[in-house]
Amino acid sequence: MSAIALPSRPPLELSVTTAPLATADVDVIAVGAFASGGDDNDRRVELSDDAQAVAQAMDLDLASELLTMTFDGTVGSNVVIPTRGALRAAAVVVVGLGRLAAATPAQLRRACATMVGVIPRHQRVATGIHTSLRDTPVTEAAQAVIEGVVLGTYRYQQFHTKPKPVDVRALALHGSSEAASIEAVVPTALAAADAACLVRDLVNTPPQAKRPPQFAQFAEQVVADLAVDVRILDEQALEDGGYGGILGVGQGSSAPPRLVELRYRPSGAAQHVAFVGKGITFDSGGLSLKPSASMETMKCDMAGAATMLAVIRAAAQLKLPVEITCLLALAENMPSGSATRVSDVLTMYDGTTVEVLNTDAEGRLVLADAIAHACELSPDVIVDAATLTGAAVVALGDRYSVVIANDDELANRFVALGARSGEPMWQLPLAKGEYGDRVEGTFADLKNVGNRAAGTIFGALFLERFVQDGVRWAHLDIAGPAYADEPYGEYTKGGTGIPARTLLAWLGDVARP
Ligand code: BES
Ligand code: MN
Ligand code: ZN
Repeated sequence: MSAIALPSRPPLELSVTTAPLATADVDVIAVGAFASGGDDNDRRVELSDDAQAVAQAMDLDLASELLTMTFDGTVGSNVVIPTRGALRAAAVVVVGLGRLAAATPAQLRRACATMVGVIPRHQRVATGIHTSLRDTPVTEAAQAVIEGVVLGTYRYQQFHTKPKPVDVRALALHGSSEAASIEAVVPTALAAADAACLVRDLVNTPPQAKRPPQFAQFAEQVVADLAVDVRILDEQALEDGGYGGILGVGQGSSAPPRLVELRYRPSGAAQHVAFVGKGITFDSGGLSLKPSASMETMKCDMAGAATMLAVIRAAAQLKLPVEITCLLALAENMPSGSATRVSDVLTMYDGTTVEVLNTDAEGRLVLADAIAHACELSPDVIVDAATLTGAAVVALGDRYSVVIANDDELANRFVALGARSGEPMWQLPLAKGEYGDRVEGTFADLKNVGNRAAGTIFGALFLERFVQDGVRWAHLDIAGPAYADEPYGEYTKGGTGIPARTLLAWLGDVARP
């Protein structure tokens, strides 16, 4: 059994300076421009202040020049202009930022990620683009720029025999008088971007290399240098503890399941947050076998667990003053002679019995044990992340996560932070009064599937039965956005890292109420 070997992010040399952008000693200067034309036939752009200053230093009428090019200032449009010796930098990249009045941090992040695509290999880049948004604090904009560049540079090449070199190796943020506060946000930005990249690496790792025992070992390694205590419950400990959900899902696989408990307990923490992640390292469906095509992306079924691991690591790196318990419920869902049968009854960690009417509804079974375990530690709030239901993809598509919570304020908070982070979320109702009794079983307390109606809500209602009264709880169904079938914006094909950056932003809020 080989351990997961992860590529580490190539170092990005970051600097912050008040020096004028045009004088930067780099390979490429990136400047922003806004779309200001009326429609497709009117492709005028409005230059940012930096773009104007750089153009002036080059003695160039940039706005007119751009009219001759296929550049309209929309997010994702970029154009490279050689400086022909007019500046120290060899080229200026003009980066479309959308409409000035509407430009958001999410658009800035996306614009910077797409900019990476037009920059040749191994370049040093300078920019003042974080100063160009109207209603966004320059620190938040700087974070978006850094995240955009790191996410845009990301490549998973572990199994490529001819890996490509990295595009951007240095990034200098120029031109703001607030250099000190920008400096202060750099570690947060890098930790957030690295968290997303760690999730991507884990999701992209082939399932044979991340079976539960390996995944658990890796989790331990990844926080080894940090103030995080790790406890791994192996199959014997799970048996002794009565974790019937995790065991029932894992019993068809030749690799046994694991429950990993990570605890970060800084002094002076006012709040205790429990994070629970679905960690199905491969979801074949079990005896309720999926068709082959539906299995192709099911190595992503551990994205929730990867997210929670990355977030607790980032929180510990940043020394956030919040107590965090992280539970990774790891199992491989396989069909075999030892697999859970359809109609088998499992006794869960809290004693509740469950009739398994579909072995492909396995996520809720492993999460139920982990949530019940979390409740014993009396957290103030529980957040779970899970690629739980195909119904979430039907409801909101592959770019929105579903939030379901027993507390609307908590749900609203995630929706707002998700939008700023470029990890969109939308709330669905828990609908306990309407559908709450649908999880009642015939031959046991509960059943793990209902009829096909409101499948995402059914999943949440099932989980809710394991959340102790009085504990605030939010469930993030990330079945859609955890994995990108095609690249878009700052996301590469494969694992996206969603919603790690939103959770980190939320922890920041929890830390300073
Ligand atoms: N892991 C899947 C959900 C999923 C689907 C994630 C698509 C990512 C993309 C989950 O375990 C599953 O199989 N859910 C079933 C539940 C059903 C049997 C009630 C589903 O959604 O079909
Ligand atoms: Mn499944
Ligand atoms: Zn699954």
